[in-house]
Amino acid sequence: MKIAVLKETADGERRVAATPETAKKFIALGASVAVEAGAGADASISNEDYAAAGAIVAPRHEVLTGAEAVLAVQAPDPGELNGIAPGALIVAALDPFRNRERIDGYAAKGVEALAMEFMPRITRAQSMDILSSQANLAGYKAVLDAAAEYGRAFPMMMTAAGTVAAAKLFVMGVGVAGLQAIATGRRLGAQVSATDVRSATKEQIMSLGAKPIFVENVAGIEGEGAGGYATEMSDEYKAAQAELVSSHIAKQDIVITTALIPGKPAPRLISDVQLQAMRPGSVIVDLAVEQGGNVEGSAPGEVVVRHGVKIVGHRNVASRLAADASALYARNLYNFLSAFWDAETKRPVLPDDDEIVQGVRLTRGGQVVNERLLGA
Ligand code: NAI
Repeated sequence: MKIAVLKETADGERRVAATPETAKKFIALGASVAVEAGAGADASISNEDYAAAGAIVAPRHEVLTGAEAVLAVQAPDPGELNGIAPGALIVAALDPFRNRERIDGYAAKGVEALAMEFMPRITRAQSMDILSSQANLAGYKAVLDAAAEYGRAFPMMMTAAGTVAAAKLFVMGVGVAGLQAIATGRRLGAQVSATDVRSATKEQIMSLGAKPIFVENVAGIEGEGAGGYATEMSDEYKAAQAELVSSHIAKQDIVITTALIPGKPAPRLISDVQLQAMRPGSVIVDLAVEQGGNVEGSAPGEVVVRHGVKIVGHRNVASRLAADASALYARNLYNFLSAFWDAETKRPVLPDDDEIVQGVRLTRGGQVVNERLLGA
């Protein structure tokens, strides 16, 4: 099987879908790996590094010719996949809900599109989960971005010239990114508090040494929702949450928001009025900015100042740590394909009745076959 690894073309995308480590592992399984020249440059991986791992480094058209699997970070345009083998696998983050036309394009081309962000949240698939691996790094980087924008220090410092107070950091949305933001904030010496709609996160927040801030009088999501994800909350809950947040964020220096609801716009957690209550010089990082934003006024790719508060809206935050993000993403893809590897034919065989395959497979045999997409 020939596996093609593309150089990403999306604006600001610095990651790459295979590393020399994963290329070597695929080759050990009997595949050949062709990497587009320069594919790893932004993640500090040279063409020579790939070649040393046994991969062929070549221009795009050569890499694609006869490829039976194409690995990418962001969805390649179906029209650009010239020369690939019929029925080839396209393995990438395909953003299916927002790019339905492109998915139809894959079907029309007769390729098998596998959306890695549709990986089911089951124990067996944990090592294949790109949302987790990338969100973890984004949560860490969000806190560093906040620290860089903040004109004060994070830890308490007692100096001969007087005491510097610890920064107060509040994390809204305690999934994978939020947990890492809490841990990072604590490491930097901030006083950390956090909230979520899922009651199960309360214990996780406390176990990281942070203070849970929860709506008490209206029911949140007990335990875990479907697949561990949140759903949209009642109006009553939203009102209670807004009141709680208003009084709490007025006392915070840094707020990191990470709240997402799969297949829906991000919930609005901070309004312009609430912003006005914050101290000038405070910093908010809106990690949900590309899904519509948790914060009123946040803008993708920009740092906006409103009422003296900086709202940081970097796009694609994981890509800002391209080397580590690529290493983890590439392993996620390898773990997925190798789990289904057939030693005899030296290629992955994806059974129709497997929960993972059913989750990620979008198109096959010229049709869109994914239940979540067909139901959308
Ligand atoms: P996510 O990225 O979809 O959402 C981030 C967080 O925002 C979630 O904790 C969610 O509850 C919260 N949120 C949504 N609406 C909110 C609102 N209005 N106010 C406050 N918070 C709100 O979630 P993520 O990071 O993907 O993880 C969700 C869960 O899935 C976690 O419990 C995680 O441990 C679990 N998980 C399980 C995996 C597995 O078993 N393979 C893999 C990855 C995560």
